[in-house]
Amino acid sequence: MTKSTLKLPIYLDYQATTPIDGRVLEAMMPYLTNDFGNPHSVEHSFGWKAEAAVEKARKQVAGMINAEQNEIIFTSGATESNNLAIKGVAFAHYPARNHIITVKTEHECVLASARALEKMGFDVTYMDVGPDGLIDTGELEAAITTKTSLVSVMTVNNEIGVIQNIKAIGAICRKKNVLFHTDAAQAVGKIPLDVVAMNIDVMSISGHKIYGPKGVGALYVKKGTPIIPLFDGGGQENGLRSGTLSPALCTGVGAACEVASVDMDKDMKHISNLSDRFLNNIKTALNSVSLNGSATERYPGNINLTFQGIKADLLIADLKDIAISTGSACSSAKHKPSYVLKALGLSKPEIDASVRIGIGRMTTQQEMDYAAEHIIRCVRNLS
Ligand SMILES: Cc1ncc(COP(=O)(O)O)c(C=O)c1O
Repeated sequence: MTKSTLKLPIYLDYQATTPIDGRVLEAMMPYLTNDFGNPHSVEHSFGWKAEAAVEKARKQVAGMINAEQNEIIFTSGATESNNLAIKGVAFAHYPARNHIITVKTEHECVLASARALEKMGFDVTYMDVGPDGLIDTGELEAAITTKTSLVSVMTVNNEIGVIQNIKAIGAICRKKNVLFHTDAAQAVGKIPLDVVAMNIDVMSISGHKIYGPKGVGALYVKKGTPIIPLFDGGGQENGLRSGTLSPALCTGVGAACEVASVDMDKDMKHISNLSDRFLNNIKTALNSVSLNGSATERYPGNINLTFQGIKADLLIADLKDIAISTGSACSSAKHKPSYVLKALGLSKPEIDASVRIGIGRMTTQQEMDYAAEHIIRCVRNLS
């Protein structure tokens, strides 16, 4: 393999963010240029055109998850969607129901929302996961009380890629008459999701994890779900999220969903093949490497590996032209050891020896082979 045919640096951090797909950018362009109207201006064609763009995007997002168009609201991203879902539903049920359930391996914005509720006097159960990163659905059922309003369990974990049994969790929540929210930021557009078949009441979506723009997301709220807005204002988005929408950003997340619906099988096949080949190369060359999280219930584009005996930050520093990370962009910024890997039972040295490798739609076999070769060489040097 020659360097001249390979474009460096290589991006393998697709859980942190993804590049905008060319088809998405093309769909957004008119709303960044000539079609600049305010979608809430009802008196002229500039506004009507912008509103039509927003509604088209809403339909595209809804189509991706089998929701109704008017069950989708636009937000600034999954952080806002998760805050609104968790706090909005908890507030709507207070004081009759003052308990929510979530999981220790959720994204920081879910856990921080839960902690904020605790400070206000709510009770929160933080469920453990097994060494495979999955919750025990029997334990979940046992944790639900007559005071529980909401269960919040993410679909695909952002650090280790494991996929929780969303259908089983949804069925339990329906049976026990509690609402079910899932943070699907790392799942939408990557694995099939159906809010009806899976009994999901509220779902968070992020634009920039699915080859769309940053700064936009969506929240699916099943019709009739009791939920209180966090912002006061003009009452846009069914009164749930006041503020002027950006037609360009909404179009971006809508087009990203549309493209993902069309390309999902192709993307999955491509990413699975690259993932299997990469793991095979690494495992053949190195003995002391292990995959974190379930080996079967996983999204193949998220590979979290522990290279026993090395320091992951030294490995990452050595791999100058390969962009990988030690985990979530948020927790890496704080330089705290990963609480997700801790919840799986990894020791501090094991956590310090772990890296996440993210494969995406644009990744090539040549890039993955280069990455495997260089990771193997660097791990050997550091061992
Ligand atoms: C699982 C998960 N939830 C929520 C978020 C936050 O998403 P956003 O950047 O759109 O606010 C992320 C992104 O890091 C994520 O991976």
